[in-house]
Amino acid sequence: MTRSDAELLNLQFHRQTVPPVWSSGEGVWLTNEGGERYLDASGGPMVVNIGHGRSEVADTAHKQISTLSYAMPGYAIESRLELTERIQKLTPNGMDRVWYGSGGSEAVEGALKFAIQTQQVSGRPDKFKILGRQNAYHGSTLFTLSAGDMPERRAPYLKLLPDVVQDIQPVADCNCYHCPLGLEFPNCELACADDLETRILAEGPETVAAFIAEPIVAAAAGVVAPPTPEYFRKIREICDKYDIIFIADEVVTGFGRTGLPFASQHWDVLPDIIVFAKGVASGYAPLSGFIAQDALVDRFDNAGQRFNTLFTYSEHPVSCAIGAKVQEIMDEENLIQRSAQMGDYLGRKLEALSDISIVGELRGQGTLRGIEIVANQETGDPFPADINVAVDVQKHLYKRNILHYLGYWRDDLGQGAQLILAPPFVIEESEIDLLVETLGEVLDDRGAAYRKM
Ligand SMILES: Cc1ncc(COP(=O)(O)O)c(C=O)c1O
Repeated sequence: MTRSDAELLNLQFHRQTVPPVWSSGEGVWLTNEGGERYLDASGGPMVVNIGHGRSEVADTAHKQISTLSYAMPGYAIESRLELTERIQKLTPNGMDRVWYGSGGSEAVEGALKFAIQTQQVSGRPDKFKILGRQNAYHGSTLFTLSAGDMPERRAPYLKLLPDVVQDIQPVADCNCYHCPLGLEFPNCELACADDLETRILAEGPETVAAFIAEPIVAAAAGVVAPPTPEYFRKIREICDKYDIIFIADEVVTGFGRTGLPFASQHWDVLPDIIVFAKGVASGYAPLSGFIAQDALVDRFDNAGQRFNTLFTYSEHPVSCAIGAKVQEIMDEENLIQRSAQMGDYLGRKLEALSDISIVGELRGQGTLRGIEIVANQETGDPFPADINVAVDVQKHLYKRNILHYLGYWRDDLGQGAQLILAPPFVIEESEIDLLVETLGEVLDDRGAAYRKM
């Protein structure tokens, strides 16, 4: 059915622009109602790991809905059991307890609450504060917004964010390209990690329950990893020293995006809690959760207590069946390994773009890649905010049938631009060639246009 622009606008929440109408998806491609194909180079917001349009996932959903469409969380439904079994096979030793939600925000919120309750069960009721880092995004609920640090998303709700979190200064982020402390690695000796200890001492260690961070920061910074595994080892040590629960937000990076099941494994550090969402069901169903170290949940079990958070759609049988099927496909087709291999290929190809005058830094691991766009390659200075480079490049790539995601790191003047690529792991080399070639042409062209402004 083709609808007029007026009809499309009337059916939107906001009525500022007519949205594209996607009719179908297959592999790394989305097709619009006019039959034009677009390369989905970020799988939407870094969600689609196995590719679009897998009919075997649809068959699984059909079968689950026809046999058992809903049951309260807590019952032993086969699809729940199978998904948990599959997740347990991927998690580090000693991390076998899986709690489920529907989206990333719900899962982070669950993990934060679980951390606070764990401190209570452990006899530390005064530990209730959450520390997060600068330039971090952990979700859109009030609590998760508080734990993160994305000024534009928090701004309308500042008065509502809990004071206890709101008044806490975030820990320095680990971003060597835009070091918040104005230092340089390795001379800095990871002062940004030490800042966690400074913040803990400022708040009072007896009041801090948990610290949350993404092992590789995706949207909030445009794919930024620490310069050495030593960073997260230091973080782990500091958390241990003060009985603080370390939560790795792997909503984006979990389930193979960076070439290992979980990105924390690159740093050889065991978090207390890993939060997951997007890739677990590859966008085929709303599904998320967190994985906790067994030792933490044992404390509840030994005390006869339960984690006190439940959503109607937690452990939804259909979402779990879809998640289990997606993970079966990941396993049978070796897609985590493929994410590593195709990610390496993509990374090598992208290196050719470093000659383009507006390409500042190329970053990433596996199929999660970031490109920093700058006005000056030498200094890394960004273009003025009014050019709105990130959105401009997005518009021009869209005209060339490429979809990608944006990074949100900005300086105090609102300047900064990052592009994010996170293609489905099934992407072919020829598709990567096309993507990088088009990207190169557009960045070249836009660079020339900005110089004339
Ligand atoms: C690192 C991280 N955490 C949490 C979230 C929130 O997930 P959701 O949008 O599914 O609520 C996101 C969303 O992009 C994210 O990138």
